[in-house]
Amino acid sequence: VLKGVIFDLDGVITDTAEFHFRAWQDLGEKIAIPFDREFNEKLKGISRMDSLERILEHGGKNNAYTIEEKEALAKEKNDDYVELIKEITPADILPGVKKFLDDCLAAGLKLGLASASKNGPAILENLGLTDYFEIVVDPASLANGKPDPEIFLKGAEMLGLTPAECVGVEDAEAGVESINGAGMFSVGVGTADSMKEADMFVENTADLDLEAIIKAHSGK
Ligand code: G6P
Ligand code: MG
Repeated sequence: VLKGVIFDLDGVITDTAEFHFRAWQDLGEKIAIPFDREFNEKLKGISRMDSLERILEHGGKNNAYTIEEKEALAKEKNDDYVELIKEITPADILPGVKKFLDDCLAAGLKLGLASASKNGPAILENLGLTDYFEIVVDPASLANGKPDPEIFLKGAEMLGLTPAECVGVEDAEAGVESINGAGMFSVGVGTADSMKEADMFVENTADLDLEAIIKAHSGK
């Protein structure tokens, strides 16, 4: 029986996936590693330092920087990103998400957040959604980021539920892999191609339908 829903944040609750993309793309241009949206799919859900490593690898520059220089690059990206998210208001909640969260609470489900972002709590605050979530997994507490299942396992544990009693909602390939690895039912938001590993998917957050999810979850 479904008892909890564990959400990714960026690209599921609000469109910050686009801000991450812009901030990384700007940094990429500065260090002469241009990349497109297709490559960006491989960065979604990936922690800040791991994202930088993937970008450097993409440009064949893994060994071009010292740890200190890499930390400075990651900070530069985050400083840009923090500027972008300052402007976020409740109007930036993606279509249908508020209703979906309300439906979940009305159905007695517990809600958790499993975002790799250290900026997650500030974004929830700006969106006015902090009180919806019983727990927020602290990404700094994890040994392994997505696609490892740890973050969704920890989310379920913090809610006092088993993975089988939860569904996870994700827009990232690495995130779906993390949910599936946790033994949890995965709901994807994205294209049929990017969400091909998800147990079910919708193209748009407006199509998130609790009835349909409860039904699909019970059938698994
Ligand atoms: C999310 C996003 C990633 C981002 C990561 C870390 O998973 O999908 O694009 O790199 O969080 O975010 P942070 O705000 O801590 O740099
Ligand atoms: Mg995401």
